[in-house]
Amino acid sequence: MMLLLLISIKLLLLLCIQRPSTSVRLKEGWQVYSSAQDADGRCICTVVAPEQNLCSRDAKSKQLRTLQEKIQNMSQSIEVLNLRTQRDFQYVMKMESQIKGLRSKLRQVETNWRTLPTKNFQELKGKMADLQPLVPVLNQYKADAGLISQFKEEVRNLSLVLTGIQEEIGAFDYEELQHRVTNLETRLRNCMNKLTCGKLMKISGPSTVKTSGTRFGAWMTDPQVSTASSKVWYMDSYTNNKIVREYKSMSDFIAGVESRTYNLPFHWAGTNHVVYNGSLYYNKYQSNIIVRYSFESGRVVTQRALEFAGFHNVYPYTWGGFSDIDLMADELGLWVVYATNQNAGNIVISQLDPETLQVLNSWNTEYSKRNAGESFMICGTLYITNSHLTGAKVYYSYSTKTSSYEYTDIPIHNQYFHMSMLDYNARERALYGWNNGHQVLFNVTLFHVIKTDDDS
Ligand SMILES: *[C@@H]1O[C@H](CO)[C@@H](O)[C@H](O)[C@H]1NC(C)=O
Ligand SMILES: *[C@@H]1O[C@H](CO)[C@@H](O)[C@H](O)[C@H]1NC(C)=O
Ligand SMILES: *[C@@H]1O[C@H](CO)[C@@H](O)[C@H](O)[C@H]1NC(C)=O
Ligand SMILES: *[C@@H]1O[C@H](CO)[C@@H](O)[C@H](O)[C@H]1NC(C)=O
Repeated sequence: MMLLLLISIKLLLLLCIQRPSTSVRLKEGWQVYSSAQDADGRCICTVVAPEQNLCSRDAKSKQLRTLQEKIQNMSQSIEVLNLRTQRDFQYVMKMESQIKGLRSKLRQVETNWRTLPTKNFQELKGKMADLQPLVPVLNQYKADAGLISQFKEEVRNLSLVLTGIQEEIGAFDYEELQHRVTNLETRLRNCMNKLTCGKLMKISGPSTVKTSGTRFGAWMTDPQVSTASSKVWYMDSYTNNKIVREYKSMSDFIAGVESRTYNLPFHWAGTNHVVYNGSLYYNKYQSNIIVRYSFESGRVVTQRALEFAGFHNVYPYTWGGFSDIDLMADELGLWVVYATNQNAGNIVISQLDPETLQVLNSWNTEYSKRNAGESFMICGTLYITNSHLTGAKVYYSYSTKTSSYEYTDIPIHNQYFHMSMLDYNARERALYGWNNGHQVLFNVTLFHVIKTDDDS
């Protein structure tokens, strides 16, 4: 059984250089018996796998299937990553061309400076200086895009190898392959963690997905399930309702093809529910109780009172509607946003254990809940809009990582004049909104914080 070995080319290359055209014993089960230069001048080793490997054929083919599945999973993750990065990348490229334009203008000005008013020149210089810190960010983005295409290529290579050896089962070093897959997975995970989190820079859209229901309601997808599932849940109205409608996909949702309805045991309050990892989390009407309802079992799995939280329009968002207790999820997990008398009606952020609903950690902000239009969490930072009406913008952000706040000025286009729900979905990197009886989506652009403690 002969096989051209491409995957361990580095290792083999070394051996070939050391001992050209002689037989080399590589390790148990492997023999290299010849070497040659290919047309590109590369060293190619021909490998013979011993017959004894044949007896464990079944085990190996099972291993192979697992590896193939892993590779497929990785390809999916890379696709998601790629899509998100491409989106940000376009934004960044635009900025880069602006910088370049400014730079050449500056150069022009510098050569003709005698003919130009000093004031203009200073202004331009100031603008340039403002943009300077962006340059490393731009470079980082370029590096990231490169990294992703490298991942893509590695995964493609690996799946080629896997397909290739399917016919040659028995003739492969699974340990080595497993090691490569694990290594790639770890790097991919690091890369995703790095790239998926960042600071909100821009909100684009909305695109109107559908027009349905009353003025107030909520709709969402589950950020925690695999990319294969894209179920949509729909909860119309902020009070006196306990029917959740489920749609198999976004297109079914648009077409109005329901797949299931769930009749919850308790009415909900407000529009601030979230579906996370197969469960619906919501605030039970006229209480500060958070309910976790499992779609799979069709039962309430957990209920717990959120201590000190105001409810029933004591501390709602600006639009009212019993929106006192806002459940949300981001890259880091499940969160609840509310206000307490202890914190003078200002917003409190708590991280929740998704199983037990226990509060894991809390942060007190100084932003009055009654003056907040909506809020949503991205990468552990809470973003608060200043109104539910036209002209609203993301006005304040609070980082749970540094326990500090910042005033921001990020416009959000309130197309239909009344926003009763706004929630971030980390998987899609989009904001789901309920805009006066319209179900809308916004895209967000994040600048990730540059870290260099990574092998990539
Ligand atoms: C691939 O992803 C699916 C769905 O997320 C998961 O059930 C499966 O265990 C994963 N396979 C491997 C080998 O990681
Ligand atoms: C993928 O395989 C090609 C052809 O063998 C090789 O040139 C390339 O370096 C490989 N890429 C990676 C990222 O391993
Ligand atoms: C969001 O981004 C996706 C992918 O780039 C694009 O298809 C979609 O139209 C965008 N939506 C909005 C509301 O900008
Ligand atoms: C999601 O649910 C599964 C089981 O239902 C559990 O094993 C897993 O830890 C949960 N993930 C998160 C992030 O809570």
